[in-house]
Amino acid sequence: MKFDGAKAPEPGHAILLTVDGVSVAVFNVGGLLLGVDAKCTHMGGPINQGAVAGTTVTCPWHHSQFDLRTGAVVQGPAVRPLKGYRVSAESTGLRVDPL
Ligand code: FES
Repeated sequence: MKFDGAKAPEPGHAILLTVDGVSVAVFNVGGLLLGVDAKCTHMGGPINQGAVAGTTVTCPWHHSQFDLRTGAVVQGPAVRPLKGYRVSAESTGLRVDPL
């Protein structure tokens, strides 16, 4: 998916991209752009609003933790991983593809 005009988030921040009903949270972790589904697999919490420590994001609703590099569950209550996305900055915007 291409998001023309989208700008990469600043380091330590996240943005939400939505196209065709798919919402992707893109985080800038020390200059590395990491994308995961924006809806927590537990009960749909807003992953893009989660706190990040290293490459782990914590869902703000019930504190499930996910690895932003893969979407894998680090700690429940969630049991299913988030879908992960490869994110790259291009001259016209951002490109987001499933891992
Ligand atoms: S909705 Fe994310 S941990 Fe419950």
